[in-house]
Amino acid sequence: MEKKVGVIGYGSIGREIIAAIRRQEIPNAKIVALFDKESQVISSVDYDSQLHLFSDFNEFYNSPIYTSLDIVIECASKEAVREYGKKIIESKKDLMVLSVGAFSDKEYLSELQNLSNLNNTRILIPTGAIAGLDSIRSVKKYLDYLTITTTKHPKSFVGAPFFKNSIIKLEEISNKETLFEGNAITAIQLFPQNVNVAVSIALAGIGLEKTRVKIIADPMISVNRHEILGKGSFGEIHIIVQNVPSPTNPKTSYLASLSAIECLRSMCNENFRIGT
Ligand SMILES: NC(=O)c1ccc[n+]([C@@H]2O[C@H](COP(=O)([O-])OP(=O)(O)OC[C@H]3O[C@@H](n4cnc5c(N)ncnc54)[C@H](O)[C@@H]3O)[C@@H](O)[C@H]2O)c1
Repeated sequence: MEKKVGVIGYGSIGREIIAAIRRQEIPNAKIVALFDKESQVISSVDYDSQLHLFSDFNEFYNSPIYTSLDIVIECASKEAVREYGKKIIESKKDLMVLSVGAFSDKEYLSELQNLSNLNNTRILIPTGAIAGLDSIRSVKKYLDYLTITTTKHPKSFVGAPFFKNSIIKLEEISNKETLFEGNAITAIQLFPQNVNVAVSIALAGIGLEKTRVKIIADPMISVNRHEILGKGSFGEIHIIVQNVPSPTNPKTSYLASLSAIECLRSMCNENFRIGT
């Protein structure tokens, strides 16, 4: 059955998702609504009489087209998840979340999970810019150690709150330099647009406090590199992903968009699924 999809955020990920649906690459998915808080962004969208555009959340939420939605995809920001998450779940829509960093607040996550149980909806987190969330989830009871090392070009870290109180100056980095080592909670506070994946593996595995995160800036690197190492009585998982950055947003890997598209495809075609 056709699923009506609404997207929040028309940035590098939102554009790819909408383009894939318009190219009919996702059977049973129909894109009918887009909300982005920036009206200039909304006015840049190619005309399509089927796609209803909004730059105000209340107008979006109270519109008949919103009522008709089956799935809302958030690909905007941590703040967007916090601002609209509960309302979307309360209106009985399935919610796909890309800005997973919002779930580093455990209380908020469990509130949202309780609401989704009450309203019989689903919250889906695509694997995003990494690989192996399925295996980390499968072995979580047997994991003793979980770490993720993220290496990106310095330009990917522009605007990160980390630099407000650091002696490290982004523009002066000329060699590979470790910016941060700590747990996933602090990592996402200091680098909210760079390490959503650290929160995803932490939630899949041994939790935010125990998951170690290392963040490296390397002026010589042309990919976004994530190296994940998990060890325990089950054995060892070692994954390296080297992603092409999105041409419109170097903080975001192209794989993140592809992963969201694949997640939507399985939400719309659930009679056959490969992978856990
Ligand atoms: N899970 C992952 O692996 C992963 C990977 C990459 C990016 N992300 C996250 O996904 C999100 C989208 O990434 P992107 O590269 O497309 O970002 P982007 O910056 O290219 O675009 C975000 C768009 O969302 C809009 N927006 C931001 N906050 C909003 C709000 N409160 N309400 C409505 N619109 C809002 C902005 O105006 C912008 O047009 C970001 O939060 C990013 O950190 C997750």
